[in-house]
Amino acid sequence: MTGDLRVSWARLRGRLDELGAIGSTGDGGCARLALTDEDRAGRDLVVSWMRDLGLRVDVDGIGNVVGTWPADATEPPVLTGSHIDTVRTGGIYDGNLGVLAGLEAVETIITSGIDLARPVAVAFFTNEEGARFAPDMFGSLVYVGGLALEEALDTVGVDGAVVGAGLERIGYVGPMPCPARPPAAFVELHIEQGPVLEAGNVDIGAVTGVQGISWQEVTVTGQSNHAGTTPMAHRHDPAYVAGAVAVFARSLASEMGPPQVATVGRIELHPNLVNVVPARATFTVDLRNTSEADLQHAEAALTARLDQLAAAEGVTIETRTLARFAPVAFDEAMVDRVERVARDHGRGVRRMPSGAGHDAQMLARVCPTAMVFTPSVGGVSHNPAELTHDPDLEAGANVLLAVMVELATADSLP
Ligand code: GLV
Ligand code: MN
Ligand code: MN
Repeated sequence: MTGDLRVSWARLRGRLDELGAIGSTGDGGCARLALTDEDRAGRDLVVSWMRDLGLRVDVDGIGNVVGTWPADATEPPVLTGSHIDTVRTGGIYDGNLGVLAGLEAVETIITSGIDLARPVAVAFFTNEEGARFAPDMFGSLVYVGGLALEEALDTVGVDGAVVGAGLERIGYVGPMPCPARPPAAFVELHIEQGPVLEAGNVDIGAVTGVQGISWQEVTVTGQSNHAGTTPMAHRHDPAYVAGAVAVFARSLASEMGPPQVATVGRIELHPNLVNVVPARATFTVDLRNTSEADLQHAEAALTARLDQLAAAEGVTIETRTLARFAPVAFDEAMVDRVERVARDHGRGVRRMPSGAGHDAQMLARVCPTAMVFTPSVGGVSHNPAELTHDPDLEAGANVLLAVMVELATADSLP
């Protein structure tokens, strides 16, 4: 009975810990920024598990890795997966759960010997986080043809590294074409990374879509001067503008109300000295909303505020778009399937949008796509304290497995 299949929890837990140890920050967290030595070591470990299982391992030109069963498959597979890069102060579950539970689902399907109507595959996509190279969901965006490979390879990171050279350095430039041929369907398991499921005492999220994301980098150029001698009325101070924008972002989100969120996450001052009015401030603004119209309203309000500040402070302000993705709705039939399977497993389920960006939002452009969420303790993520309790992780992995079995054995797909 395929409905009775269950993952090996011990094997999945062991792999989460083994991968989580690569780039360990010593406080339960993980630093595996894209295309670093730690990323390479994590990739090599996951690829070794794929090979041990007899999957065909394909690498594309942007370093996305897909492990397919059977190894000689030619038809589009039911694909699962996520990412194994992390933010610098990440946890061990964000992304990694989706890849390792996906591997576990594929392994369980193979060892069960069930007849498949189509291949199954598990992928990890390059640089989902976007913390080093913008935008986020970078590899999956190239995978679906949303960003040209040449442009992606030329992308320069916050530390001056270039994607193409970084991929060569870690040995992850492969011959699989990208954009790739669309899979038959895609389903991704991920921790929620927010407080909704835990607060509602719900076991599983059936994700309806992903909110829109707008990232801008703002560079303010003023006049560097002596902190003691320059009267306040004579200042053209980029640090003041950066602070004013951070305050504005908070009040904009408060005025608009949920689900609008606004974050100033990175601020750099030059020359960054105690007694110097800075010459330059560079900072990022992350705006998100489930409504495209509301997101555009927030962007317009930010632009107006930047114009006001530039005039009032006598500074010049330049902006650069780092990421801009409209809200995404997942395939209804796929979301229904996740909800039904989770209920069949005796789980409480909530349909909900995702606050975080995910590779699934890119795959949704080319194939029926869904996501499964597990609860995050305290709603904490992008933080070493990120945690999902073991029974919740296991329940999520089993829902993923069951959805994949249904998709891989169905006569036809939605
Ligand atoms: C990426 O994972 C994001 O949501 O920022
Ligand atoms: Mn993630
Ligand atoms: Mn993340």
